[in-house]
This record gives sequence, structure tokens and C-alpha cells, in this order.
Amino acid sequence: MTKIQHYFLFFLIGFLVTGHTQGQIKSPIPEVETLLDKMTLEEKIGQLNLLTPGGGVATGAVVSKNVEAKIKAGQVGGLFGISGPDKVRMAQEMAVNHTRLKIPLLIGADVIHGYQTTYPIPLGLSCSWDMDLMEEAARMAAKEATADGIMWNFSPMVDIARDPRWGRIAEGAGEDPFLGSAIARAMVKGYQGLDLMAPNTMLACVKHLALYGASEAGRDYHSVDMSKIKMFNQYLPPYKAAVDAGVASVMSSFNDIDGIPASGNKWLLTELLRERWGFNGFAVSDYTSINEMVAHGLGDLQAVSSLAIKAGLDMDMVGEGFLTTLKKSVKEGKVTEAEITQACRRVLEAKYKAGLFDNPFRYLDPNRPKQDILTAENRTLARKLATRSFVLLKNHDQILPLNKKAKIALIGPLADSRNNMLGTWAPTGNPDLAITILEGFKDVAPGADIQYAKGANISNDEDFAKKVNVFGPRIQIDPKPANVLLAEAIETAKKADVVVVVVGEATEMSGEAASRTDISIPENQKKLIKALVDTGHPVAVVLMSGRPLTIPEEFELPIALLQVWHPGVEAGNAVADVVFGDYNPSGKLTATWPRNVGQIPVYHSVKNTGRPAPDEKFQKFTSNYLDAPNTPLFPFGYGLSYTTFKYSNLKLDKREIHQNESLKIQVEVKNTGNFDGEEVVQLYLRDVVRSITPPKRELKGFKKVFIKKGERKTVHLTLNHDDLKFYNGNLEFLSEPGAFEVFVGTDSNAALSRTFTLK
Ligand code: NOJ
Repeated sequence: MTKIQHYFLFFLIGFLVTGHTQGQIKSPIPEVETLLDKMTLEEKIGQLNLLTPGGGVATGAVVSKNVEAKIKAGQVGGLFGISGPDKVRMAQEMAVNHTRLKIPLLIGADVIHGYQTTYPIPLGLSCSWDMDLMEEAARMAAKEATADGIMWNFSPMVDIARDPRWGRIAEGAGEDPFLGSAIARAMVKGYQGLDLMAPNTMLACVKHLALYGASEAGRDYHSVDMSKIKMFNQYLPPYKAAVDAGVASVMSSFNDIDGIPASGNKWLLTELLRERWGFNGFAVSDYTSINEMVAHGLGDLQAVSSLAIKAGLDMDMVGEGFLTTLKKSVKEGKVTEAEITQACRRVLEAKYKAGLFDNPFRYLDPNRPKQDILTAENRTLARKLATRSFVLLKNHDQILPLNKKAKIALIGPLADSRNNMLGTWAPTGNPDLAITILEGFKDVAPGADIQYAKGANISNDEDFAKKVNVFGPRIQIDPKPANVLLAEAIETAKKADVVVVVVGEATEMSGEAASRTDISIPENQKKLIKALVDTGHPVAVVLMSGRPLTIPEEFELPIALLQVWHPGVEAGNAVADVVFGDYNPSGKLTATWPRNVGQIPVYHSVKNTGRPAPDEKFQKFTSNYLDAPNTPLFPFGYGLSYTTFKYSNLKLDKREIHQNESLKIQVEVKNTGNFDGEEVVQLYLRDVVRSITPPKRELKGFKKVFIKKGERKTVHLTLNHDDLKFYNGNLEFLSEPGAFEVFVGTDSNAALSRTFTLK
């Protein structure tokens, strides 16, 4: 084959695989090309400009100005932070009736965990390990958001996070690429459905490409530096899964990768995303992330804007660097018009896919909000989702579930705190509509005698409270002195049969720009828990947070401990459903809980090292600490139930498999306790020897099963050939012959194991 033939073949394969290349490949949508032919350079640049008219929450210094005038001047491609058929119609009319080419606006929003029917924070929801349910949740969110005129969702957030100091761990699915990929697929499917033209589906936007969850020291917006091997094997799979599932758009992240911020990173946005993965949607920056490349140290606004467009970024979120500099850059020969046309083409294609050229007002039915938003049916689903997100961390003496006729002291700063129920980043939710824990208890157990006392503030630190209270008074410091609050709680507890104390983090103690170096329960709340336990009455701790916390001291106490994250609008009802046993908890952690921050990063798929500590016991000159074990407080996949499950009879259908074969695995699981319940059966794999150092084990399968008390079920799992593959030193995705070890069980410490050989 000549060099030319070789090149042609390569190009052809590239085109067939990706459907796009960096060059001027015309859109398969003729309407888009017809439109592009008519557009001036200014009009094309206008399409790349995404603004927020000010109704939304600004997550940076910039707020868009003169939005109406800009829309009418054809300088705006899309808006976010605007909702409701009337308002969206006004904006859409400005675009359609006042601009030369009548191109409709794309209307976006952050619908991260429900639109108005807010369901648990994503980290909580991921603990359900229930992909059907997650898809249903996303579908409900899409139905509500589209009813309010929104057709583009800045979700799912799939950043792998192994550092719970990072506040945005709350917004994703935790630490694991296999589970994270499954969740990414489910959410894209839920938002986009099978037909993007349908009135209740929306364009999804996978974010934040890439590696945002690996910011140094868990500090938000911090740098990222990572080997390609780690990236490809551990951090990139969920983004790729979303792309493979057909996600319509991608948002670039704030951090740098190999020294170049994501928004100007050509390797990331073109070579990886489009050429290697075949992505054919459009890429939007994060909030002013193009402008932030100036602070990153890559030049002035004109230079970084041209870097971004040349890297393959198509739309500029609120920064207006594209709007204000690209024309000049074209004149000066720094950017070609073809590069701008290409970005514009992708934005127009998205508008076409959303059906906007067909009818710009398609999402603007004034009757829909009433019919579709916050319906009883949606609230029922939100309640169910919340119950599935809770993780029972400990249940000393089977304190839980409680009797519905008990005399209960309900204590704690989060027990009657409506505006802390929704959780971080629920900008379209209304905290006033949330059910408090106190209300839920009264509703679910009307026969119980429930006495409430606050007991403590979330934090006594006024300075800290000020930083947390940016979106509302989440931490309210009581006028009563701390010792009076505590004394009242102890008195209330002494009169009860059982104490339930609801403690933890306020809503904005996690989320964006909410990193913490100390992730324990604030001191005054720790004191409250201890004092209540000292009364000698049984204590159930209901723990709320947007991240794993360090709670080694509380774990030692003789308590029940139910982790409920931030449960959403149905918080109180859902917590009561589980506390009173109407639903038996089945959640499993999707991020490891460290004993202390010094262990971070701590996650299940660690490597063995050359000097593994024997049985995790201390031995000098092995890989360990002097002052703490290597093991976390709670491993990945951990979660108890009111019942117990026993695993036995693990079988593989073959001892040897060949390339491209799959392996069938079965295990018996018996419900040996006194309650019906669900169990997440988990499968981990160890590639014993390979060309790059393997993790000790990695999640490669799971199945959630319902088993009646006393019953035994045979659970079937499959290892597909791709599950044995990894990215090697040359970043080729392949498997290598040799021995593998399979572990099956209730969490990432699963002990039952079998081996097989790949020939
Ligand atoms: C900044 C956040 O990083 C991103 O997740 C969000 O979608 C945008 N702000 C828009 O609100």
C-alpha cells in the first residue's frame, strides 16, 4: 500500500468511526449547512455565546449584562438560569422574531438531582446501585425540566472522586469507574430517552471533562496532574461511557491536564474526545473557564479564547471571550473562519436535534408545569429514591428499626431544619417544600410520642457559618447558649425510650467551592452525640452529609448509625420509612470512608505495592502508617441491612477461557435474618500478573436482588471479555493471558473467591 493509500484508508476509517474529523466535514443535517451558508462571521460567533440573564445563581464573578440587546443582535446562542414557559417564550421570541436568521436559543439548566422534585444528592443516589431506578429518576427530572421550557441539562456529573475533602464529591457517583460508567449510561438514557425530539426528553451534558475530581488536596478548582495510565484506567471511563451512550454535549472542566486547562486542551477535546472516542456532539466550557486560562497563566483573553476554539471547544459559558475576541483573531490570522464555522455547526446541530428548528416553542406549553412538575407521583418516586440511597453503617443491638408506638426523643440541629434537606446544587428546587425529619416522623408514626429538642447548632463558628450561608441561612446559630441547648436535649432524651439524633453537615458544607480539610462532624455536634449516649438510652444517629465523613470515635459508640446524605424534598418521610422499618435499608457506599484525612486518598482498587503490609498488620519496612491502619473505616460497597445475608457456593462455569469468551459466575445468597431485604451482590476481579501493576481488586459486576427472610437465591453474574481488559503502557485496551481471581460478596472485602485462567 502506498503512503497516500494508507493515509486515505486511515482518513476513511477515522471518518466512518467518528462521523466527524477536525476538518470541514459537512453536517449530515442539510438544514444546518443551508443555514451556515447564509451566516456572517459575527452571526456564527454569536451562536457560540452562552449567557445567563441573571435569574440563576452565579457560580463565579461574572454575571451576564444586556442580555436582551445581545439576543436581538444575534450575539447569543443559548441561555441558562431562566425557566418557565412565559419567560422562555419571551427570550425565544427575541431570538426568533428579532434576528436576521431567526435561530432559536438553546435553554439549559443544572438539573443535578431533580428539577423541582428534588431527589437525593447524586452521591447518595449512587448508593442505590439500582440503574433502572436512576434512569427513572433522570427521566422524571427531564419531564419536569422540559415542562418548564428547558431542553438542555448540565448533567450527569461523572467525575471520579477519591478525595472526600473535595465538596463536589456530592455531585457524582463516587470513586469507581465501573459503577460510574453504568450510572453515566443510565442517566444519559434517562435524560435523552430514545427520541430527543420528544417533548419530555432533553439534551444531556456530561461533565466535567476531565479529571476534575482529582484536584490536588481536594481543594476545588486546584490543579490536576496524573499519568495517562491512571487517567485511562481509572478516571476517564465514565465520560467515555456517556459518549458511547450518545450524550449530546460535554462540559470542559476548570482544572489543567498535563499543564493545559481542559477548556484549551486540544489533546482532550479533539484527539481524545472526537478522534479516539468518536464524540459528535458539542462541547461547552464551564462557567468562565475560558477566561480563567488567563489566571492559569496562558495569556490574555484573546489568546486563551483562540486556544479554546482551536482546541475544539464550541460554546463559551458566560465568559464572552469568544464574543469579544474571535473576530479580531480571525482578522489577525490566529483563528480561521473554518474553525468558527465548525463550532457553530455543532451548536446548530444540537438545536436541530432538540427539534428547535421544527418549532422553537416546542417546550413552551403553559399547561405542562401544572401537569408535570411536583406531582404526587413524582414526590412518591423522590421518596422511594431517598430510601434507596440510605446506608446503614452500624446497628448496635438492633436499635433500628424503631417501634411506631415508641416514646422518642428526636434531637439535633438537622431534625427540624427544612432548608438543609435538598442538598447541594438544587438551584431549581424549593427548600420550603421539603419535609423535615420531625414532620416525617409524625406522619409515618402517628402513634409514637415524639419530643423534639435542637441540642446543638450545626456549627458554633460564626465565621464558618457565614461562608456556608451563601445561598440561605443553612447554619442558624441559636440565641440560646450552647450549654442550654445541650441541657434541654439531655432532659428530653431522659424522658424517652429511645433517642434519634439527626446531625452532620448543612447543605452547602459540600458542593462547589465547599472543600474541607477536616471532614469530621463539627465539635459541638460530636459532644451532643456523646452526651446522649451517656444518658444510657439507646441512640440512633441519623447522619446527613454530602461526602464521606471521618467518624472513628462515633463508630465506637454503642449506637445505630444511618447515613442519609441529603435526601431531597421528601427527606423526612423517607428517613421515617427506614427508621420505622417500612423499608429495609439496602444502600452500599460508593466512596470509601477514611478513618482520618491522613489516609486520603483511600479507595478499594489500590495496588499491592512491592511491600504490602502482611494481613494489614504493622511491620517495619512494609507499606503502612505508624499511627493508623491502611484499611478505611468503611470500605467501598459497604452497607448493612436489618437482616443478614450469607454467601456460599461460588461457582465459575469454566476454569479456562479464551480471548473474546465470557465467564458465567453464580453464588448462593441466603437471607438469614428476620426481615425481607435487598442485597447488592458485588463481583471483584484481580488480574494476578500483567504488564502494568494491577489493582488488588476492581469492581467488575453487581446485581441487586430481593430475598425474603429465610429464602436462598442463586445469583448469576457474567464477566464479559471487556471486563478483563485494561489500558496498557501504550494505552491499548486489551487483556493479557494468565490467572485471574474472582471475589464475590457483600462489599469490596468480599472473601469468597475462585480463580480462572485466560488463555
Ligand atoms: C459551574 C459548575 O462547575 C458547573 O457544574 C455548572 O454546570 C455551571 N457552573 C453552571 O451553573
